[in-house]
Amino acid sequence: MRYDPEAALRALSAHTGDRPFVIGQLGQSLDGRIATPTGKSKYISGRGALEHLHRLRAHVDAVVVGINTVLADDPQLTVRMVEGRSPARVIIDPKGRLPHSPRCLHDGATGRILVVRSKAHAYANGLSGKIDILPISCDGSGNLPAKDIIAALHARGLSKILIEGGAQTLARCLSAGIVDALHVMVAPVILGSGQPGFALPPIDDLDEGLHPRSEVFTFPDGDVLFCCNLREKRVSIAQDSTMQRTAKRRTLSDPVVRRLS
Ligand SMILES: NC(=O)c1ccc[n+]([C@@H]2O[C@H](COP(=O)([O-])OP(=O)(O)OC[C@H]3O[C@@H](n4cnc5c(N)ncnc54)[C@H](OP(=O)(O)O)[C@@H]3O)[C@@H](O)[C@H]2O)c1
Repeated sequence: MRYDPEAALRALSAHTGDRPFVIGQLGQSLDGRIATPTGKSKYISGRGALEHLHRLRAHVDAVVVGINTVLADDPQLTVRMVEGRSPARVIIDPKGRLPHSPRCLHDGATGRILVVRSKAHAYANGLSGKIDILPISCDGSGNLPAKDIIAALHARGLSKILIEGGAQTLARCLSAGIVDALHVMVAPVILGSGQPGFALPPIDDLDEGLHPRSEVFTFPDGDVLFCCNLREKRVSIAQDSTMQRTAKRRTLSDPVVRRLS
């Protein structure tokens, strides 16, 4: 289907805000890379895809990125390519690595929230006053539980939340099972090397993977958008009894099967 903004954003627009709605996004190459080996990701996808990203921002209350993305891209995280208001910008930076200079700290566009392990990290860097500090307690492995981050943002009145990247931040949210929808933009480009998309804990069987129901939209320049609903499962071939019955019926009568056997 040709890209239709209303259809692509239907689930997000329909959400009422009684609980958080978390949507992840990632732009990747045909070979699953989200950036070059030197961390350059501007711009793997084309203009329509970039407009879609800005449209996503315009439909959420908060946009969340990991600290590596800020250090690599220095993104503004505002809405500029489409109509709409900019969301609050949230940076997950447990160890206080955020420098003084990022652009998002020096514009007056919208609110900024720094998610840290303890307030001490932000104060040590002299960031207090420039950005709201949101301390979150670590789990046993020293990570900030993604569920707690989202709950704390929701408690601040931010209910539609876009996880814009990078891959590690998105992977932690996916592993925690808190992502409702995922928009993956695939560009017709092969990088051949570079940073891979999100990596999740290893699985043995295909059935253990995520099989979201998806809608697919194409852009004139060849970019393809997968809008995945992670709350609804796509019926896999192995589970589809109709297909199994058809496959059984085919065994001897199908000339292709006869030729192969
Ligand atoms: N193609 C795209 O759509 C897209 C989008 C965004 C970014 N990018 C690219 O992605 C690259 C960066 O991605 P990345 O995967 O390396 O890093 P990232 O996700 O931007 O940041 C990861 C870091 O954020 C902190 N973090 C995030 N969630 C955390 C949690 N729940 N608990 C504790 N710490 C958490 C950790 O910081 P500490 O290490 O300090 O603990 C972690 O190492 C850049 O090259 C950027 O250009 C691509």
